[in-house]
This record gives sequence, structure tokens and C-alpha cells, in this order.
Amino acid sequence: MTKARYDDVAQYYEGVMSPFQRWGLIKLRQETLSQLPAGRILEVGAGTGLNFVYYPPDAHGVAGEFSREMLKIAGAKPRPRGVQLLQNRAEHLPFKTHSFDAAFATLVFCSVESPAEAFAELKRVVRPGGTVVLLEHVRPGGILGPLFDLLNVFTTRLFDDHVNRRTAKMVSEAGLEVVDVKSRLLGIINLIKCRVT
Ligand SMILES: C[S@@+](CC[C@H](N)C(=O)[O-])C[C@H]1O[C@@H](n2cnc3c(N)ncnc32)[C@H](O)[C@@H]1O
Repeated sequence: MTKARYDDVAQYYEGVMSPFQRWGLIKLRQETLSQLPAGRILEVGAGTGLNFVYYPPDAHGVAGEFSREMLKIAGAKPRPRGVQLLQNRAEHLPFKTHSFDAAFATLVFCSVESPAEAFAELKRVVRPGGTVVLLEHVRPGGILGPLFDLLNVFTTRLFDDHVNRRTAKMVSEAGLEVVDVKSRLLGIINLIKCRVT
């Protein structure tokens, strides 16, 4: 596996995120995990494990992450006993078809190299009728949209971060049924709930 981009920033990640955590991200994380049904769960791009404290104590499944350095930090955090940490890429999930009841990701699909491939993988590994929940920053509507298109030129070059992705549309194009999109923070953040058909 090649070196992941987040390997270089892993040690700074939580410091950078801490103001956003205080300004509402904690609540959004809780809201995201509250949408998950009981069953075997997959977290995609678990990062340093900032979601672990919001897992139900009896949660079971896998928290996957591409960056080895992010994973190291996640590995030092407490998490439910039934949740395994694994290095993998969202575009090539090393799991059997229909092996999860639900999957989720927070702030991941802005940096996934091929969202279409990753969504196809989610559709494969989550059973029909299962749930996929995504908390993502996206291209906002209205006047902010073109501004984010412009911003994207810089964020992709500097951080490989896409700030103008139409994530709900991409999920739908990948064949997942989008059942709800909650818009937060002027439409910059979306909480997207999908059903696997
Ligand atoms: C902004 S961080 C979010 C981390 C965590 N989900 C959170 O909410 O704090 C994005 C994470 O997605 C991971 N990532 C990016 N592309 C990925 C891919 N193709 N497969 C798996 N993880 C990926 C990065 O390594 C990084 O840890």
C-alpha cells in the first residue's frame, strides 16, 4: 500500500480539528452515529478515531482507514471491543459482499480519490436494505457555490481536499437511494442518509 496523504498531517490533525469540534462538529458526529441501526457497522476513513466515543458500547464491525499514521493514533484510543481497526482503501474494501448492516463516514469523501469506486464498494459490502450515513462538507448552493468552486482550485492543490463535491448526487449516481439530506452550516455540511437497494 502506498503512503497516504494523511500520514504527514496525522500528528497535527486533532489540533486543527479542535475548534471545529467545539463549534458544532461534536453534535454532528453524535447525530451521524445516532442514525445507524443496530448490527455490523463499517466506518470508512476513521482517521484518528474521533468518532469512537460516540459508538454504542456494544457496537461491532470494522473501523477502516487508509493512513497508517492516522490509524496508529486511532489504535491508542478506547473503542468498543467488537470494533476491529483495519488499514484499507475505501475504493477496495477487503470484505465479502453484504457483510455489513450499515456503513458511515465523517468528513472523508472530500478527500477520497475516487468517490464513485468507493460508493460502489459501499453498495457491495452493505446488505440490501442496509444504511449508509455520510457527514460531509459539500458544495453549497446559491452564491456560495461558485465561491467554493474557486476555493477548490487552491484546496485541491494545497491539501488535496475537494470543497465543491456534490456528494449526495454522487451517491445517488452510484446507485444508493438517498433517503434524507440534512443541510447544516449554510449548506456547507450535509448529513446524508442512504439506503442500499
Ligand atoms: C478529514 S479526515 C476525517 C477523519 C475522521 N473521519 C474524522 O471525522 O475525524 C479524512 C480521512 O479520510 C481518510 N481517507 C482519505 N481517502 C481515503 C480512502 N480512499 N480510503 C480510506 N480512507 C481515506 C484519510 O486518510 C483521513 O484519515
